[in-house]
Amino acid sequence: MSKPIVFVARQIPEVGIELIRPYADVRLHTGHLPPTRDELLAGVSGCQGILSLLSDRIDTEVFEAAGDQLKVVSNFAVGFNNIDLAEASRRGIAVGNTPEVLTDATADIAVSLLLAVSRRLPECIRAVQRREWKTWEPLGWVGLDLQGKTVGIVGMGRIGQAVARRLHGGWQMKVLYTSRQPKLALEEELGAARVSLDDLLRTSDFVSVHLPLAADTEHVIGARELSLMKPQAVLINTARGEIVDQQALEAALRDRKIFGAGLDVCVPEPLAGDSPLRELEHCLILPHVGSATITARNAMAERSAQNLIAGLQGNALPFPVH
Ligand code: GLV
Repeated sequence: MSKPIVFVARQIPEVGIELIRPYADVRLHTGHLPPTRDELLAGVSGCQGILSLLSDRIDTEVFEAAGDQLKVVSNFAVGFNNIDLAEASRRGIAVGNTPEVLTDATADIAVSLLLAVSRRLPECIRAVQRREWKTWEPLGWVGLDLQGKTVGIVGMGRIGQAVARRLHGGWQMKVLYTSRQPKLALEEELGAARVSLDDLLRTSDFVSVHLPLAADTEHVIGARELSLMKPQAVLINTARGEIVDQQALEAALRDRKIFGAGLDVCVPEPLAGDSPLRELEHCLILPHVGSATITARNAMAERSAQNLIAGLQGNALPFPVH
């Protein structure tokens, strides 16, 4: 019997592809860039499974292009805002993601951004590269302290908790958080306090965003919210760009309403070439590398392969999106 065909939207770590091969013929998109829309629509045609990336929009058009035999979409990411879940569920298509295995890597990037922006590392690096470093400067490149400050975690899921633990353990930071549900064990462990978003913004020295992107989380941090932040506060976003109103952030940074921002995510990705954010020395932007460690990416490849195989076989996915 011939094997089912699966479309894999980009080269992922080989460990994932090797897991899939015994179960399916892999139609691999090999380019460095994501498939264009036309390539995606052509690539999924006749497939029973799709292994997608966060840059691939998986919606009705893709489901139609694939055909009725499509059984599973396995996202190589913990976030799944790129997939039309309602439509997948209506069609009986299983959807999976790769939770947990990228928690530490992403929390490390959030803390890296926080340190780098607070200590003005982008400016320091630029000064060295441009030969502007003339002497040891008593007043030069002076940044923020971390010890004993207050961090506000917006969205206390797995990654938010990992960030809170790092900042509380490393710098004895007081932890405030927002969450639909109280996290009582974490409150006990870290002395964390659940507060309203406004109180968090008014009180925190560092604000780190860890919400999933959904209709009700878009622009959760807008002009009003930014205006509540302390003038010396730093905003970190490693979740999804859309959660912060980027224009409002540009204005707040330009007018020095906050100390700085560290973004691993933005809108669009990559950031537009003429975005003013690129020019702001107190805004550090990374190319969405939260999960970019060897361990995390290999584990993501394994989990996404396991989801794909389970879906092809009509079994419950080990890591389903609910
Ligand atoms: C990365 O942003 C992910 O959702 O895995």
